[in-house]
Amino acid sequence: MTNIYRPGRHFLQIPGPTNVPDRILRAIDRPTIDHRGPEFGRLAREVLDGLKQVFRTAQPVIVYPSSGTGAWEAALVNTLSPGDRVVMFETGHFATLWREMAGRLGLEVDFVPGDWRRGVEPETVEAKLIEDKDHQIKAVAVVHNETSTGVASRIGEVRKAIDRAGHPALLFVDTISSLASIDYRHDEWGVDVTVGCSQKGLMLPPGLGFNAISEKALRVAETAPMTRSYWSWEAMLNTNKTGYFPYTPPTNLLYGLREAIAMLLEEGLEAVFARHGRHGAATRRAVETWGLELQCQVPEEYSGALTAVRLPEGHDADAFRKVVLDTFDMSLGNGLSKLQGKVFRIGHLGDFNDLMLAATLSGVEMGLGLAGVPHAKGGVQAALDTLAGDR
Ligand SMILES: Cc1ncc(COP(=O)(O)O)c(C=O)c1O
Repeated sequence: MTNIYRPGRHFLQIPGPTNVPDRILRAIDRPTIDHRGPEFGRLAREVLDGLKQVFRTAQPVIVYPSSGTGAWEAALVNTLSPGDRVVMFETGHFATLWREMAGRLGLEVDFVPGDWRRGVEPETVEAKLIEDKDHQIKAVAVVHNETSTGVASRIGEVRKAIDRAGHPALLFVDTISSLASIDYRHDEWGVDVTVGCSQKGLMLPPGLGFNAISEKALRVAETAPMTRSYWSWEAMLNTNKTGYFPYTPPTNLLYGLREAIAMLLEEGLEAVFARHGRHGAATRRAVETWGLELQCQVPEEYSGALTAVRLPEGHDADAFRKVVLDTFDMSLGNGLSKLQGKVFRIGHLGDFNDLMLAATLSGVEMGLGLAGVPHAKGGVQAALDTLAGDR
């Protein structure tokens, strides 16, 4: 089939990778430099320092040339021993994948079952840890924003639950689709390893994975016996001190990362979080007006990064998404694993503004009509009223 030019920008409204703004594309579009030379050392130190502000930590943040999955693995292999007990929570597809990885690495996972419609219950965390009198549980691992469901777990509350139980378990948090989109505080919330990546709130192409690491996790890593090589924090932290990497770094993505951090700090992180929150609220107003159901059932856990919408029985979410892609050149997120065909996901994170949301919701509303999905009209108008109302 020949490609036919489709005028105007493609709407990439999946919940990551997100739209890469021109400013970042231009920053990346530069000659690659000597990664052992002085200019690179300055770039890396600037980026590693700037990242601390995004994670809200005074502790080191490591950058891997990897996807988010690599950064998950790094968190586990640097701190744990095969056979260690870890508590994880079935909040959705990504929590399930992380659990599977932990199992493959030889960890004993206590996987708390869930219905993919709510986040981690802090009370369950507390109860699990109180039960564990002889401190067999070495870590609690939580996905902050479940990208498959649009549910954001309350990490600050999870921290308080661990403290109430007086338990020494490490806390690992996946912020892959929440970093630089939803309020997050590595130090204040006493998180031991925060896992992140480049292609969502940071507005970059895929290719960078992050670990922000607490002092406690660094101490534990000194004696943790799990086999590791590429993911080892030690070599990375040693070379990072002077602005270098133990292997060839992703130089051009780091130019992009420097620009992304500058953009986020210019806007201000609080403003970034508020913008995502507004867009989530306006999207939910549209969904409610259409008469469709949200996947997330807990209002305090609604995500500012994406909204997962259920289609009525008998209607296929993938057929609907195909109509939207073919007709309006817009990609929406699909339902993952057991939600396949049942939900579609609207990404409203990253480099995104009111008018982009208005266009996205217009594409969804027109697509619902064309795909024959029963709905009430007026969702776009309701969202516009919400956006205008809080200006
Ligand atoms: C919450 C969450 N965790 C982990 C991952 C896996 O990240 P990656 O695909 O970059 O390896 C994703 C990917 O979308 C995600 O959304």
